[in-house]
Amino acid sequence: MTAQDIPQLQAAIAGKSPQEIMAYFLNKFGSKIAFSNSMGAEDQVITDMICKIDKSVQIFTLDTGRVFPETYDLIDRTNKKYDIHIKVYFPDAQEVENMVNNKGVNLFFDSIENRKECCHIRKIGPLTRAFKGLDVWICGLRRDQSVTRTDIKTVEWDENNGLIKLNPIVDWSEDKMWDYIKENKVPYNRLHDQGFPSIGCQPCTRAIEEGEDVRAGRWWWENPDTKECGLHAK
Ligand code: ADX
Ligand code: SF4
Repeated sequence: MTAQDIPQLQAAIAGKSPQEIMAYFLNKFGSKIAFSNSMGAEDQVITDMICKIDKSVQIFTLDTGRVFPETYDLIDRTNKKYDIHIKVYFPDAQEVENMVNNKGVNLFFDSIENRKECCHIRKIGPLTRAFKGLDVWICGLRRDQSVTRTDIKTVEWDENNGLIKLNPIVDWSEDKMWDYIKENKVPYNRLHDQGFPSIGCQPCTRAIEEGEDVRAGRWWWENPDTKECGLHAK
């Protein structure tokens, strides 16, 4: 697959629902497609849709070693509810050990450079391993999540990783997503009920105040324009 294949795929899914889009892709790409699940609300909607189409699809999550206890609980509850096995990827132990011994366990608060290094080692390294042999990765990005995400398309070429990126619910609003979760009794992170609309690693996520942007609690000490961890290139 190359960037040249994108227009054809975009045409094939025009006007289709997220479920129809995913059914099309899952059927076309078989074992060469996987879903990266951060265990956030968007991703749990996609998990539910995938499991209703084909439970054998690869679903993986990146365990940075710094996620919330509630997130581990959700991984477990999701596996049990759908009778699936979400694959867990860990960062390289030696790289984490070197980083924290050189720069401290909470290095991310000291500079953007440190924060990006931590995200690189704890997320990008394992993600690159997870991508081996894949043509497509499915993500739960939505356009209205942040200023860095307003241009995202349903199907895109991911230049960094040489892969097709599929964002099936890119144009869903937050309300639409929560309606789906409630109607389909989708398991979700308990922190969403405690003011955390977007959940990442525990030290780098805080609850938001009324009226704040949904991603305001992620790396809250940084400027909104820098708030991507490198998973989603900008
Ligand atoms: S992040 O880049 O700020 O961390 P966000 O939490 O909005 O990303 O999630 C966007 C998409 O990135 C998710 O829908 C998911 O596909 C992928 N993603 C982010 N974090 C993880 C993770 N820990 N494990 C697997 N996929 C992830
Ligand atoms: Fe490290 Fe924070 Fe990035 Fe998690 S979100 S990998 S703790 S910098």
